Amino acid sequence: MGGTTGSAAPFRFADLRRGGEDARPELLAGLRAARAAIPPKYFYDELGSRLFAAICCLPEYALTRSEARLLADHGGEIARAAGRGRLLIDLGAGDCGKAAGLFPLLEPAGYVALDISADFLRAALGRLRQRFPGLPLTGVGIDFTRSLDLPEDLLAPAEAPRLWFYPGSSIGNFAPDAARGFLARIARAGGALLIGVDLVKDKAVLDAAYDDALGVTAAFNLNVLNHLNRLLPADFDVADWRHVAFFDPAASRVEMHLEARRDVDVRLGEGPRRFAAGERIHTEDSYKWTPQGFAALLEEAGLPKQRRWLDEAGGFALFLAEPA
Ligand code: AVI
Repeated sequence: MGGTTGSAAPFRFADLRRGGEDARPELLAGLRAARAAIPPKYFYDELGSRLFAAICCLPEYALTRSEARLLADHGGEIARAAGRGRLLIDLGAGDCGKAAGLFPLLEPAGYVALDISADFLRAALGRLRQRFPGLPLTGVGIDFTRSLDLPEDLLAPAEAPRLWFYPGSSIGNFAPDAARGFLARIARAGGALLIGVDLVKDKAVLDAAYDDALGVTAAFNLNVLNHLNRLLPADFDVADWRHVAFFDPAASRVEMHLEARRDVDVRLGEGPRRFAAGERIHTEDSYKWTPQGFAALLEEAGLPKQRRWLDEAGGFALFLAEPA
């Protein structure tokens, strides 16, 4: 863990991720299952994080822009409702850009950035330190979907009330029961939650958002195989696989898969696994909510005090939610 230097505000960095050995059983079980699957958190190696940043600029992927516009239009009101001087805890901080845009409005007492992609986060915080030398900064490399138990000394200054920030509709990557459980953990950890959620919309719009014309989302999806090759190790060849993505209105979710272009034999850790032509590996679900449905989910999770802001097209919502 890094310490304080000179007269600048404290800067800490802790890598609490478990090593590759812990990823292996989870990945092998998923890949050897009859309906093979890879948890979406494995998208985010260094290249995956960069590809995701590129997705957020795509014309088809409006989610990021809708959220940014809502924050720009209602940031002052949100900051007044949340209260200034909080400890801002960013869940899945990435390049920290979204949170940094809120600093002038929220005037946080400190910023704690969590992300599974620790190297990417460390570099982003290094840049942020130059821009905000007076703000206490903490970076934590962590798979916070497994556990939100953070050492108390990382949540500093401890006396500041907490504001959890979970933008980008990442909550959509949890199935509803798991989303409820995750939100309940935040409610128990104390403080308020500012969360962005993508809403149900036209199937054609959602299909295109996850299968863009430039093929950036396809590259993002396929890159998970390169990441697995290093983690397991395995010998996936991305040329053997194609990107498949579609919105399923009945389940209210976009599904992403990798489909074998031909019969493929892959070396997975100790032994091989055959994938028949057309067989799929399920890589991600992205649930889309109605405003009412998400309000009910927050309430069930123990966050019944709510305010919400919807964009003009009704495609995206920001919720500020607290325990009673
Ligand atoms: C991070 N998460 C909210 C994105 C989503 O929309 O589900 C990941 C993503 N997958 C494909 N495009 C973007």
